[in-house]
Amino acid sequence: MQQIDLSPIIEPLLAWYEQNHRPLPWRDSPTPYHVWLSEIMLQQTRIEAVIPYYERFLSACPTVEALACVDDEQLMKLWEGLGYYSRARNLKKAAQRIMEQHKGELPASYEALLALPGIGPYTAGAISSIAFGLPEPAVDGNVLRVVTRLTADESDIMKDTTKRRVTASLRAMYPQAMNKAANLTQALMELGEQVCIPNGGPHCESCPLGATCMARARNLTDRIPVRTPKKERAIQPRTIFLLMHGDKVALRKRGDKGLLSGLWEFIGREGWCELPEAQAWLKEQGAHSSRLIAAPDATHIFTHIEWRMKGYFVLCDDAPSELLGQTLVWVTRKELHDMYALPTAFRAYVRALDDFSPREA
Ligand code: ADE
Repeated sequence: MQQIDLSPIIEPLLAWYEQNHRPLPWRDSPTPYHVWLSEIMLQQTRIEAVIPYYERFLSACPTVEALACVDDEQLMKLWEGLGYYSRARNLKKAAQRIMEQHKGELPASYEALLALPGIGPYTAGAISSIAFGLPEPAVDGNVLRVVTRLTADESDIMKDTTKRRVTASLRAMYPQAMNKAANLTQALMELGEQVCIPNGGPHCESCPLGATCMARARNLTDRIPVRTPKKERAIQPRTIFLLMHGDKVALRKRGDKGLLSGLWEFIGREGWCELPEAQAWLKEQGAHSSRLIAAPDATHIFTHIEWRMKGYFVLCDDAPSELLGQTLVWVTRKELHDMYALPTAFRAYVRALDDFSPREA
């Protein structure tokens, strides 16, 4: 595996970081728990979106011990809207493991961190270096972009071999940064977020590594990083039924496996139903409605699939406790907002319910 000597970047990168890093809440007191939580939240989610979630989460679960004991419904509510909910479940599982096996303290070892649920090489590297000052890199998309541009590496960044090569080059560099591992990791990420950006062209003129960047010298910054095109998303049509009885709406819990597992949802089914078909189907399922009124269409994009949704307000004559063999809970709109974690995919329908007045319909 060909490694590249990256040590010349250490000094200019650390100097740039000192001057240019953003004040972020987890940087105020980078305890292992704070770093862990922030890094898990930051996977797949933008920094600005994470900040309020991070602060609210820490108020509810200020310690590993509190996280290990948090009620599952409260945990989902704290994560509501962030997506990729298995991240939250793994946080709790790992917190329980830390209580049982590590006396409530995150272990100060890359290998031991890696053994915890939900902690992969990136997160283990980030906690090791940022919280414990260990010479371990954390290679995410930002860091891959920075390093492949620096080295004019045109290999596919989606391939494990590329990630391994970049990690090895960085791992060889870290010991030379002496006790600055924490800043080095964050500086690489920060440079990727602020300067060596992906779309619209990097800000090479203000890059502290401009003099050593081979992609810049060879005019390759718009070609690198190279990545295999993503697979097209599968389009899934769905129909959402907002079953209403008095001031209550019906929810059910998704199963334990698969997309959005364990979260609450409105009643729905695959495919688009036109009004007569929707009416007939609901009747067949035992939901007797006085009226069906069209709700807005909505789209939600997940990583690999896209839901295209058609919706109906269903004014029910009664409030069945079961539908399609599944238990329904009937909740007020206040309870819906305060107590039940609904995935963002249904946000348009939560809003539609807030705006709905049967008298207007
Ligand atoms: N992105 C992911 N983790 C980060 C961190 N610790 N600092 C800045 N950006 C990040």
